[in-house]
Amino acid sequence: MRTIRAKIIVLFVVIFGLTLSAFSGVLYYLYARQSAQNFDLSLSNDALAIVGMVKGNSFLEQEIISGIIQQPFRPNFGTNRYVQVLSINGNIVIRSSDLKDVTLPVSSEVLALALSQHQVFETLGHKMTEELIGQGRLRMVTYPVFEDGIPRYLVQVAASTGPLDENMLQLRLLLFISVPLAILAAALGGLFIAKKAFDPIDKIIRTAQSISAEHLDRRLETGKVDDEVTRLSKTLNAMFDRIEEAFRLQKQFTADASHELKTPLTILLGEMEVALVNPRTSKEYVETLGSAVEEIRRITKIVDELLTIARLESGQLAMQKHPVRLDELLLDAVSKTSAYASRRSININFEVHDHSSGESEEVYILGDEDKLLSVFINLLDNAIKYSNDNTTIRVSLTVAAGMAAIDIIDRGIGIDSEDLPHVFDRFYRADKSRSSEGARRGTGLGLSISRYLVEAHGGSISVASTKGSGTTVSVSLPIHQPAGEAAQNSVSKT
Ligand SMILES: Nc1ncnc2c1ncn2[C@@H]1O[C@H](COP(=O)(O)OP(=O)(O)OP(=O)(O)O)[C@@H](O)[C@H]1O
Ligand SMILES: [Mg+2]
Repeated sequence: MRTIRAKIIVLFVVIFGLTLSAFSGVLYYLYARQSAQNFDLSLSNDALAIVGMVKGNSFLEQEIISGIIQQPFRPNFGTNRYVQVLSINGNIVIRSSDLKDVTLPVSSEVLALALSQHQVFETLGHKMTEELIGQGRLRMVTYPVFEDGIPRYLVQVAASTGPLDENMLQLRLLLFISVPLAILAAALGGLFIAKKAFDPIDKIIRTAQSISAEHLDRRLETGKVDDEVTRLSKTLNAMFDRIEEAFRLQKQFTADASHELKTPLTILLGEMEVALVNPRTSKEYVETLGSAVEEIRRITKIVDELLTIARLESGQLAMQKHPVRLDELLLDAVSKTSAYASRRSININFEVHDHSSGESEEVYILGDEDKLLSVFINLLDNAIKYSNDNTTIRVSLTVAAGMAAIDIIDRGIGIDSEDLPHVFDRFYRADKSRSSEGARRGTGLGLSISRYLVEAHGGSISVASTKGSGTTVSVSLPIHQPAGEAAQNSVSKT
C-alpha cells in the first residue's frame, strides 16, 4: 500500500468487485423471480387445461364416484405434475396416478381464497414433499372451477421445483466462480495497466536519482508524445538546467573569488619577502608597509564585497527602508568621491531637473540610505576611475512621472560593445590586462552589487557607452510621496 501503483490497483479491484457483485446480485434476484413466476405460470396453465376438461363434464363426478372409472386419470402434462380434482364438498374426483394414495391438502385459507375466484399458489409442507418427491420443494396451485357462478370443483396441480432449483444452483455456482475470477482478472489487468502507467515514472525516478553533483549534465528522456510524463520530464529537465547553471555559477564564483584574493596576497607576500631578505632603511620599510597597507585594503574591499554578495544571495542583507532624500543622497555621494576626483583634476557637476508639476524640490524615495549611498559611490567611483584626467563628470537627477532618473555621464574611456552586455556580471572587467594597473584596479563586483541593490528598491540600472568617448550609467527609482508634503512646497528648479 506504500506505492500509488498498489493504491490504484486496490481501489480499482474494490470498485470493480463491488460493482460486479452488486450487478450479479441484482441479476440473480431478477432471474430467480422471473423463473419462479414462470414456474407458477406453467402450473397455472396446466391447471387451466384441466379446468377446461372438467368444466361442463359434471357427469364425471358421478361416474368416478360411483366407481365406473377406476383407473386414476393421467393427464398428459409431462411426468412431474401431480394433479388432483376435488369436488367442492371435498370428494376426490380425479387424481393422477403418481399421487398414489397421497391427498393434496386444501387448507381453509386456500379454500376461502379459491371460493372468491382466486387461484392460490403455495409451497407444500415438508411432510407432503418427503412423501411425494423425497427432496426439494413442491409448489402447488389450487384453481377453482365455477359453473353458472356456483363453485363446483377445485383443480390442484403440484410439481417439484427441482429443475428450477437446479437452474438457480447452477447460476449461483457460475456466479460464485466467475465473479472472483473476473475480479482476479481485473486485478491482473490493473497490475498490467499500473505497470504500464508507472514504468516511465520509475524510469524518471532512477534517472533523477543518478543525477548528482558529479553528473549534473544528465537529463531525463522525453518522449515524442506530449503526455503527462513527457511534460514532467521536461519540467524536471528545465529544473536540472537551472540547478546546473546555479552550480556552474557557484563554482565560477568560488574560482573567481579565490583568484581575486590570490593576486593581492601574492603581491603582499612578495613585497614582504623581499623586504626581509636584507636589512632596509626605515624609509624603505615605510614604503613597503605603505604598499602592504594598500594591498590589505584591497583584500579587505574584496572580502567586504564578497560578504555583501553572500548576504545578498542568502537573503540576509536586511534593507532598512525609510523615506530618503535622493537629491541630498546624491550630493553626499558626490562630496564623498570629490577628493578622489580632484586628485585627477576631474570635475563633478550635479544638476536637478524637475518635470513634474507642483512638486517640492525635495525628492524622496523609500529606501535604505546606506545601501543607496554605496550604489552611487560605486557608480561615481567607476566614472572617475575610467575617466581621463581634466574631464567633467555630470550627475543629473530628473524627476518625471513618479520616477527619479539619475544619469552619471563621464567622458572616459568607454566600454567596448562586446563587453557592454557583461559589465553587470560578477568579476567582469572589460579589460583584464588594464585592470591590473594600479589606479584602475577593480574586482568587477561593483556593478553587479549595485544592480542587485537598485532592483531591491524597485528600480532599474543600465549602461550606455561608446568606446573612447564616454559612458552613461542610468539608474531609475520610484519616487516616494511623504504624506502631506506634496503640496507644501512648490519651488521649481532646473
Ligand atoms: N564608467 C565606466 N567607464 C568605462 N568602463 C566602465 C565604467 N563603469 C564600469 N566599467 C567597466 O565595467 C567593469 C565592471 O565594473 P564594476 O564596477 O563592476 O567593477 P570594477 O569597477 O572593475 O571593480 P569594483 O567596482 O568591484 O572595484 C569595469 O571593470 C569596467 O571595465
Ligand atoms: Mg566599480
